[in-house]
Amino acid sequence: MGEQGGKRAAKFQGPKGTRDFYPADMVRRRYIEQAWRTVSIRHGFEEIEGPTFEAADLYAVKSGEAILGELFQAFSGKSPEEVEQVRATGRAPYALRPEFTPTLARMYADRAASLPRPTKWFAIPIHYRAERPQRGRLREFLQWNADVIGDESPQADAEVIAVAVGLFTELGLSGRHITVRLSNRDLVSELLLENGVGEGNVGRALTLLDRRDRMAAEEFTRACGEIGLNAAALAERLGSIQSEMNSALAAMENGEAMPAIARRSPGIEQLKGLLAALDAQGILKWCEFDFSIVRGLAYYTGTVFEITAAGERAVAGGGRYDRLIESFGGPPTPAVGFGMGDVVLSLVLEEHGLMPEGERLAECLGTRPDAFVVSAGDESCDAAVAPLVAELRRAGLHARRSYKATKKIDKLLKDAAACWARFAVILDESWSAGRVQVKDLTDGTQHTIPRAQLAPWIAQRRAGLAV
Ligand code: HAM
Repeated sequence: MGEQGGKRAAKFQGPKGTRDFYPADMVRRRYIEQAWRTVSIRHGFEEIEGPTFEAADLYAVKSGEAILGELFQAFSGKSPEEVEQVRATGRAPYALRPEFTPTLARMYADRAASLPRPTKWFAIPIHYRAERPQRGRLREFLQWNADVIGDESPQADAEVIAVAVGLFTELGLSGRHITVRLSNRDLVSELLLENGVGEGNVGRALTLLDRRDRMAAEEFTRACGEIGLNAAALAERLGSIQSEMNSALAAMENGEAMPAIARRSPGIEQLKGLLAALDAQGILKWCEFDFSIVRGLAYYTGTVFEITAAGERAVAGGGRYDRLIESFGGPPTPAVGFGMGDVVLSLVLEEHGLMPEGERLAECLGTRPDAFVVSAGDESCDAAVAPLVAELRRAGLHARRSYKATKKIDKLLKDAAACWARFAVILDESWSAGRVQVKDLTDGTQHTIPRAQLAPWIAQRRAGLAV
């Protein structure tokens, strides 16, 4: 702790579960955001954004207990009624957004009549969840969302899965690293009804199955008893349908026709439609069926999926939410989408050596300086650095300069190379005759250029044109 004017200066740390992004961290974040944006646009999605805080009730309607227990509450504290409400109920009128789907559904419901069908939206919002921070889970994180609204077909499900797969491919990941685990809430619900759960308890049973891994065995058994669920029989039945569906997937991956599936039910019909649509997208090799997945958010219907990499928590999760938009006052509108967080994705990229560094990262982000101006001459050269840099910037070039007093050219060039500059512009004795030395740091060649031609010379050479 430091001393200031005799007082101990307070030392603050960022809140638990948040991150500080220094320049080296920020470029990695931008790399991921850029890939999300590029791939979304390539797949025909348009970008949207909403507020970072919403009425807390927006989440109360349909997100479910898991999210409600993780809300960061917000209120201005300015009106006595608001303060009184918080004191009396422990609930603030607003919440920092823990997810984007309710905002998207609210926005769609508001303009449904004028929006095209399907509407394809993506967003890269920041989210807040009061979770216990751990590997892959923080309290503040970025989450890429891609959603297709107004299309109930399995082709729409496959389309959102294809955009996620497109992202992994863009970043150098393959089906060896990543698995898309497919499930279907309607199928699991059918089997719950067949295994002792009454109609009114299906929602509760799905929540229970989602929380299973986080519960003690006795607690799970007791909760199953309360709703009449025979968990062992359910697991056995789901397991056998899962193997049958996975064999069908493997056969189709080998170019065979879809084999007959013994069970006939609405859930199975949806899964068969999804298989065919994934096949048409050419992405079956990324996928497998895993009916232990039901998803924690209460609004899901039909297809649900989670995307995982070995040893890590889910990198993405999503599914259909065909009734959410009407529950926000819009017309009945089917929708499907997913959210992918930056935290696990970064871990997976680092683990496989796929997070670029240095020059390649700067190249990807377009942050490499075009020119790095140094003075290796007398005072007139020193004084010329600032106007020359300003001139290059006015010409639209990314120009930096050395702030060092040294005239040692090696040291100056080292600084130019450290920021991956393409050209070092050296002011030396030729400056008095109106010329500068330009070193091409990519191929090491050196050129004497009249000052007036410097900016166009760099611009042309940067574009790969002969000068
Ligand atoms: P979710 O499964 O809650 O779904 O989150 C999706 C992804 O966000 C997770 O797989 C994970 O990568 C990331 N994520 C979630 N919580 C955290 C956390 N505390 N720290 C870091 N990353 C996290 C949803 O949010 C749905 N709204 C997704 C969706 C969009 N469904 C349809 N459209």
